Formats: sequence, C-alpha cells, structure tokens
Amino acid sequence: MCEGLNMERIPVSGPWITQKEIDYVTNAVTNAWYANANIYNERFEKAFAEYIGVKFAISLPSCTSAIHLSLLSLGVGAGDEVIVPDLTWIATSAPISYVGASPVFADVDEKTWCLSAESFEQLIGPKTKAIIPVDLYGGTPDMDNICEVAQRHGIAVIEDAAEAIGSEYKGRKAGSFGDTGVFSFHGSKTLVTGEGGMLVTNREDVYHRSLFLRDHGRSPSDKMFWNTEVAYKYKMTSMQAALGLAQLERIDELIERKHRIFNWYRDRLGDIGGITLNYEAPNTKNTYWMVTVILDKKFGLEKEMVIKLILEKDIDCRPFFYPLSSLPAYQNLEQAEQAQQRNKIAYKISPYALNLPCGMNMTEEKVDYVCDVLKSILGVA
Ligand SMILES: Cc1ncc(COP(=O)(O)O)c(C=O)c1O
Repeated sequence: MCEGLNMERIPVSGPWITQKEIDYVTNAVTNAWYANANIYNERFEKAFAEYIGVKFAISLPSCTSAIHLSLLSLGVGAGDEVIVPDLTWIATSAPISYVGASPVFADVDEKTWCLSAESFEQLIGPKTKAIIPVDLYGGTPDMDNICEVAQRHGIAVIEDAAEAIGSEYKGRKAGSFGDTGVFSFHGSKTLVTGEGGMLVTNREDVYHRSLFLRDHGRSPSDKMFWNTEVAYKYKMTSMQAALGLAQLERIDELIERKHRIFNWYRDRLGDIGGITLNYEAPNTKNTYWMVTVILDKKFGLEKEMVIKLILEKDIDCRPFFYPLSSLPAYQNLEQAEQAQQRNKIAYKISPYALNLPCGMNMTEEKVDYVCDVLKSILGVA
C-alpha cells in the first residue's frame, strides 16, 4: 500500500478509457458483422492515415507484424542486413530474423537516445537493405539526416513510431518519414486497442503488397480462396478497431494528459543535479510516452537497484531498454559482439536509466509520492 495514498500500487503505464470507447466497442460487437464486418477497420484506417498525414494505413494485430510486413513488402530477405538502434525493444529487430536477414546494431545520440545518423552511416555495407529508426519513448531522432543518408545509399526506411503517436519532427508527424511507418496500440501505449498495430505508407506498391501478404497471399480482386503465395494472417478485429477509433477521436486530450504528467515530473525533478529527463529537441514535439530518468553514475545506483527500492514503496517502474547487443537472444551473433565494443553511448545510458510511472491515471499527488521516494533513495530529498 502506498504510504499516504489510498491505493495498492502505482502502475507504470495504462490507458484512459471513457464511455465513448465502451459505446464504440459495444456497437462493433453488436453490429460489425455480415456486410458491416469491416466498417470500423475502414473508419479507423482512414482517420489514422489522415491524422499522420499519409496516403494509406493498414490495421494489424500488432506493431511487430507491421514491421514484419514492412520488411517483406520492401523486399528484405535472406542475406540482407538491416540497421537498428541498439537501444529499443526487441520487437524492432526480431522481425529482421523472421525474414532471414541480420540485424546490425547502431549507437544512439546522447541527447535524444534515438538512432545516431553518424553511427548509421558508418555501418552501411554492401548488404545493408533497410534502416529502422525508432522514436524512443515519444522522442524523435534526427530524421532529416537519417533520411538523407538512407536516400544517398538507396536504403529503405521503416520508421518505428510504436511509442510516438502524435510526436512531431519539424511539423511532420512521427511515422510519416519512411517508406513505411509502424505504430503499436498495446495496452501500455498512449492510444490503445489492447493489442494492435498500424502500418502506414505513401507508397502504393508497398500498400498493395502488404494487403496481399497479410491475407494469406491473395488479392481482393482474385477469385475466392485463390492463394498465389504462402503468406500470413495479420488482421485486427473490428472490436479493436472500434476501440482504436474512439481513442483516436480523443487523441489530443490523450497527448495533453501525457504532457501534463511529464510536466509534473519536470517541476519536481528537472532542477536536480544528476537527473536527466526526456529531451525535446528544437523543432520537435515529444509526446513523452514514458517519462524517463537517467541517473548520474555519482549516485552509485544501477537501475535494477533503484527499481527494487522503489518497488518496496509500491511503485512500479521499468528499466530503460538493455542494449539489444547485450541480450542473450543475440549472444551468438558476431554483429552483437562488435556492437558491445562500439556503441559507447548506448552502454553508457542504459545501466542508469529507468521509466517512471506515467499511466493515464497518474495524478499530481501520485507524482509527488513517486518523486519523494526517488529523491530519498538518491539522497537528494
Ligand atoms: C519501439 C517498439 N517497437 C515495436 C514494438 C512492438 O509493438 P507490439 O507490441 O504492438 O508488437 C514496441 C512495443 O512495445 C516498441 O516499444
């Protein structure tokens, strides 16, 4: 039980559901069958494409499947290399292995924590087929430089905006920069459908190829049950699409809530020496999916210890992602060994950084409590 607060435990993340979401899902489960089976998916996809500012959107069961389809539709396959930032969730890189290609782990920028354009360029080789920059925790990398390098070398860009719905870079929405952009609507995200994802693109060829691949290799125009390739079954249900549509219609207030939660933290932690919070680069809008702190080494506390001590006060936190190249999942990969030596910034940030509770149900009172606990652990109270 949180001392002084009448609640069991402060969760690290979670959604904001209103009557609107309940009404839309109820309507979907009641009516979205027979001739109406696709109405919510179509409305969600159309509204989503408009919001991001792209031509096409395809609703999918997850962001992982959106990355998988992106790679397939862009022709990435066996023998190819795909560059990813070392600091991200493994969902960014796992689909690279699904298609028989190999991940190459690039370092990140010290301020944005996102892919470093320089590191990306240094790693380009004859096998490099695609790059997957990630909008980490709602922040954006230097997309101008990344896209310029990719274009100069003829490399496809898949923008992983799983954590960054509504974020902006120079007035354009995150997810709109690459050959494809991908989003996650997992229950921890700013916009939720429980599980779910979206692939967006301006490329008509990629759009049609993705539609074909996600429906067992058949074209909508072909005769029934006529498969011309062995492919995949990646569809979002209409109940999820209804939930997503309702959330999208409330996106401004969802993002506004994320800003407010971040500002409460910034007011309490922003001026404390040795604590670095999420960065918002000039000309960008960070939507602060996860409020994140990097603690100076001087405190002598690695993230696992801080999380353990905070948990004793009934507060859930998450460790900053471990460098992918450090994970047992990649231990047999030569590329991972090289990245461990090479990616100095990723290995400097990760051990001392954690995500603080920033679910949609956070209140100023709870932020106060979390900050007091953190400050007392760090001895700066
Ligand atoms: C950066 C990043 N990419 C991809 C994903 C995968 O999303 P999903 O769980 O919807 O497959 C996530 C999910 O948390 C993520 O954080």
